[in-house]
Amino acid sequence: MSNHVEVNNKENGERKFFNLQEMPHIVKALDRNQKIYPDILNVIGNTPLVKLTKIPKAEGIKCDMYAKCEFLNPGGSVKDRIAHRMVIDAEKKGILKPGKSVVVEPTSGNTGIGLALAAAVRGYKCIIVLPEKMSDEKVNTLIALGAETIRTPTEAAWDDPTSNIMVAHRLAKEIPNAVILDQYNNPCNPLAHFDGTAEEILWSLDDDVDMVVMGAGTCGTISGVAHKIKERCPRCVVVGVDPYGSILAQPEELNQTDVGVYEVEGIGYDFLPRSLDRNVIDKWVKTEDKSSLQMARRLIRDEGLLCGASSGSAMWGALQAARSLKEGQKCVVLLPDNIRNYMTKFISDPWMEARDFQPLVKKENLPWWGKPVTEDLVQPIKSISNSSSPSEALATLKESGASVLAVVDNKQSLVGVFTADNARRRLANLAGSTSEGLEKFTVKKFYKVDLTHKPTLGLVSRLLDIAPYVVVVKSDASTKVENSVGLLNSEDLLFHISTENKYTNGN
Ligand SMILES: Cc1ncc(COP(=O)(O)O)c(C=O)c1O
Repeated sequence: MSNHVEVNNKENGERKFFNLQEMPHIVKALDRNQKIYPDILNVIGNTPLVKLTKIPKAEGIKCDMYAKCEFLNPGGSVKDRIAHRMVIDAEKKGILKPGKSVVVEPTSGNTGIGLALAAAVRGYKCIIVLPEKMSDEKVNTLIALGAETIRTPTEAAWDDPTSNIMVAHRLAKEIPNAVILDQYNNPCNPLAHFDGTAEEILWSLDDDVDMVVMGAGTCGTISGVAHKIKERCPRCVVVGVDPYGSILAQPEELNQTDVGVYEVEGIGYDFLPRSLDRNVIDKWVKTEDKSSLQMARRLIRDEGLLCGASSGSAMWGALQAARSLKEGQKCVVLLPDNIRNYMTKFISDPWMEARDFQPLVKKENLPWWGKPVTEDLVQPIKSISNSSSPSEALATLKESGASVLAVVDNKQSLVGVFTADNARRRLANLAGSTSEGLEKFTVKKFYKVDLTHKPTLGLVSRLLDIAPYVVVVKSDASTKVENSVGLLNSEDLLFHISTENKYTNGN
């Protein structure tokens, strides 16, 4: 019988509590100077530097590697630092007036969360404008903090009127007492890292650091940290991490691919922010989604660091750069945000499998799992032209009794889907109207499988774990036309796998 059960046994009908005084004690020295904090904003910063134990060893790295755990900030990211700093500075200058000003900011989400946190504590209304790509988890956190959120198209260039930057600036002109603190051009962005993040790294390592590696977004983190570290430890090599699809890295030839969309949030841009100083960045590493997200999962699984996607990019970049360091040298990698932002994204196995970021889970005991999807299983769906109006799409939906329509271009190639769910959401939540173009009602992000690539029933089952339907298409590589074949939902798959006895063991 275990100790635990013994001490919980009832004696004379009474439950005995543990004898804590007599148990073996582990008392850690208290490492915070302050006993009580006046508010949560005062808890920002002073994040731990943690030695990485497993990944560097497994990758044959000779130097010591340390993670700067920015994901442990109160709002969940490194951006809490700059949001707090920009707010304090604007209050001092009289630009922000508590109870009156409205904070408006274009962001990839984390600066928004930092600002919404500061706005909640100090009494401002807050409107955050962020691209569609950014996770729903970030949006829900913002809403919980009392902020209003506006989503903009991910593919819009920074200077396009529909981009998050341009929409925020338009709103700031229209809304009385609105203020944009502007992380891209505000010196408080790099300054928060010059005064805070870099000082902390130098303190932790007694001013003795050989390499620091950071992802680059607004570049406030890397530019601010680099300026301070180079002052006190000039030999330190500063490495910037920039995804393919962005133009921040130098030399330009490194940015081999066109400006494009990638999954990792918060790093990379299609313009050079003022908070970037390329002169203090010695080396750039370009990163891809697959290796970044796999590395983020490894940081969680192998090192127990509950970090986000760009932490994986930074770590992947750090492993490339740290190969040049010798035993005894020190490399710091900064982990910007936390797992919470991505619970339905790269933390989900089916999400990773759907994008081929990790192999499809094997289920050898299910005979149907590896069988190909055949056309006869698929429910045909009606198509509408992308030149139709939302009212015409609604009429087709009603008449067909379906809940999903394929939206096709003049070559009959699939460009998106029109769904009852999305149309309802647009009309209910966004004050949208059926007089808008169909484009505004067309869903572009949905799960699909291409019969040309022989998808398996197992893959469809995994996709149905995270989506209400899967669109089935057949593509023609020469014409680049993608014809919609139809739809598969849980019922279609369920009835097939439960009645198809040819797949059942023993038959
Ligand atoms: C998740 C994440 N990683 C990295 C960064 C990059 O930080 P910075 O804007 O200081 O370059 C950001 C910025 O928003 C971020 O949200």
